[in-house]
Amino acid sequence: MKISTRIALCLVLFLGLSAWNIAQETSPSEITITVPEKGHSETVVKVNGKEVKGEGDTRTFKAKLEKGKEFKFKIEALIEPNNYTKITRFKEIKLKGGDNAKVDVTVKNPKTDKIVVRWVPTPDDIVDEMCKLAKVTKNDVVYDLGCGDAVMLIRPIQKFNAKKGVGIDIDPKILEKAKENVKNAKLQDKIELRVGDILNVKDMADADVVLLYIGDDLGERLSPVLQKTMKKGARIVSHRFVLGDWTPTKTVTVKGADTYEYELHMWVLGEKKVEKGKSK
Ligand SMILES: C[S@@+](CC[C@H](N)C(=O)[O-])C[C@H]1O[C@@H](n2cnc3c(N)ncnc32)[C@H](O)[C@@H]1O
Repeated sequence: MKISTRIALCLVLFLGLSAWNIAQETSPSEITITVPEKGHSETVVKVNGKEVKGEGDTRTFKAKLEKGKEFKFKIEALIEPNNYTKITRFKEIKLKGGDNAKVDVTVKNPKTDKIVVRWVPTPDDIVDEMCKLAKVTKNDVVYDLGCGDAVMLIRPIQKFNAKKGVGIDIDPKILEKAKENVKNAKLQDKIELRVGDILNVKDMADADVVLLYIGDDLGERLSPVLQKTMKKGARIVSHRFVLGDWTPTKTVTVKGADTYEYELHMWVLGEKKVEKGKSK
């Protein structure tokens, strides 16, 4: 091969490699994620499935990305506002190599936030107090959204003759326990149990009474569905927690057999707030 051809070939190879290098040039990029103040030390942030370690009110995700090319990032924050509630918040952003972005996961997203509270049972005598407050009768269909082991369905039927009970819970394991309890109480024909997220419940028109023990975050999200779809005169009684900014019709404090005081709130569809007081 002629020397001039060899030089030309080397030149082509060199230019090709340089062009490839430019195309592959990477630049540092950062995503700064602001996490909620309440519970921020416990907040776990993942970007595209990988945990971004850190403390305080921000987490910083760093990456070297191909300059100018657009990339998608899925951000997932597991937030624990208290020791019984876990909220998973999702965000998706696009970022070009070399750019930085800020993401705020402190803001609630009612459409996509997943909220789960852990199981803590309501004592039997407090369920009875809730039924008394709701004035449960033989004509009532009673729902427990987040029914746990079904105590709030079994007691209204056994002690107050409620017509039917419907329970929904996200945790299949606790529903197994609920099924066992319903079977032991011989109430299989009167109690219906479903696995599901109560945030997917769209209509509560067939409920006469809804009993709840679900935390303030889930309550706030459920409130519009209950207000919009429950029939006039239907009652909701909640152990301890409220339903967003919906003022209860009545709030009472009862003393349990365990000597603790329990606050119970009742909303009657179509009625304004009437009183606040002690019932025991
Ligand atoms: C505090 S416990 C109350 C159990 C029962 N209602 C009682 O008072 O004894 C809350 C229950 O709600 C269930 N739960 C939590 N988040 C839920 C969700 N998003 N959808 C359905 N069930 C949920 C839990 O698995 C748990 O069994």
